[in-house]
Amino acid sequence: MYESDLCRTVTMLAIDPSKKLSFQRLISNGDLVIVYERHNSMKAIKVCDGSELQNRFGVFKHSDWIGKPFGSKVLSNKGGFVYLLAPTPELWTLVLSHRTQILYIADISFVVMYLEIVPGCVVLESGTGSGSLTTSLARAVAPCGHVYTFDFHEQRAAAAKEDFEKTGVSSMITVGVRDIQGQGFPEEFCGMADSVFLDLPQPWLTMPSAAKMLKQDAVLCSFSPCIEQVQRSCETLKKDFTDIRTFEVLLRTYEVKEGSLDCGNINKGDSPQSLPCKRKQSSSRSSNGTNKSSATTVMAKPCSEAKGHTGYLTFARLKCL
Ligand SMILES: C[S@@+](CC[C@H](N)C(=O)[O-])C[C@H]1O[C@@H](n2cnc3c(N)ncnc32)[C@H](O)[C@@H]1O
Repeated sequence: MYESDLCRTVTMLAIDPSKKLSFQRLISNGDLVIVYERHNSMKAIKVCDGSELQNRFGVFKHSDWIGKPFGSKVLSNKGGFVYLLAPTPELWTLVLSHRTQILYIADISFVVMYLEIVPGCVVLESGTGSGSLTTSLARAVAPCGHVYTFDFHEQRAAAAKEDFEKTGVSSMITVGVRDIQGQGFPEEFCGMADSVFLDLPQPWLTMPSAAKMLKQDAVLCSFSPCIEQVQRSCETLKKDFTDIRTFEVLLRTYEVKEGSLDCGNINKGDSPQSLPCKRKQSSSRSSNGTNKSSATTVMAKPCSEAKGHTGYLTFARLKCL
């Protein structure tokens, strides 16, 4: 595939920032856009001339979106608005349909970093699940690497494949239907993988096969929600792997807002002492000539909706014999 073709077809995969879809061109009929209401309310929509989006802000005609740059604010018939964002793996993880439990951004970023995944890598993954991690792996290996992902659930694999086509990452991903715990990875990948990622109920069953797939000195990661699974995995990993480490990645999201201490801007229960804050003093002259001082405060509060435990990530490096 020529570079120009690649840039046109693999929408989420531009590794050269100047070729990012959002910088490249205007929204066209048939494009996938992320309709952003607020950070916790977004949805992916395929632009279709003649269609409409109806939500609490009114009716939005897709025809009004065509020709606008990605990132545009668009108006409904009632004057309500949404933003139209270019799809990225980060946003896709937040809007995809959950056919399984999925990996979220904090774990995904850690996995990509710790598995040392760079453009050109070959990555083996199982199970595919909803394809949340796979989409980010595809961008990490682009433009010349590849992700081979396996799930034993036929419909789930087919749905993930459809999603990869929809999001424009399918040229980087091959989806296989296979019982990876029972059969291991296909022999043809022996010694070919730069990294292996497992999100399986009994990952220890696949670890001997994973060891055979990896190149010398390569790294494996296994995600498990329960510590009992981690313990069993670590025991199995000792045979072929070294530098075995387990992490739990906890993400804390903050709400940051500016307000005046004396005009009731602090929510009930938010004692200013308990919140990290920075005061800006400003003084102005009041109508009777006296100096009036008011303090605005930037308050930062951890979001209550932030997700807690997702699972444990165990990494291990193949022993060099
Ligand atoms: C939790 S999901 C993976 C989610 C994925 N990491 C994501 O981010 O979207 C686990 C997947 O493993 C698959 N699975 C379970 N046992 C399997 C096996 N023996 N072989 C292949 N896939 C299996 C399930 O069908 C399921 O789709």
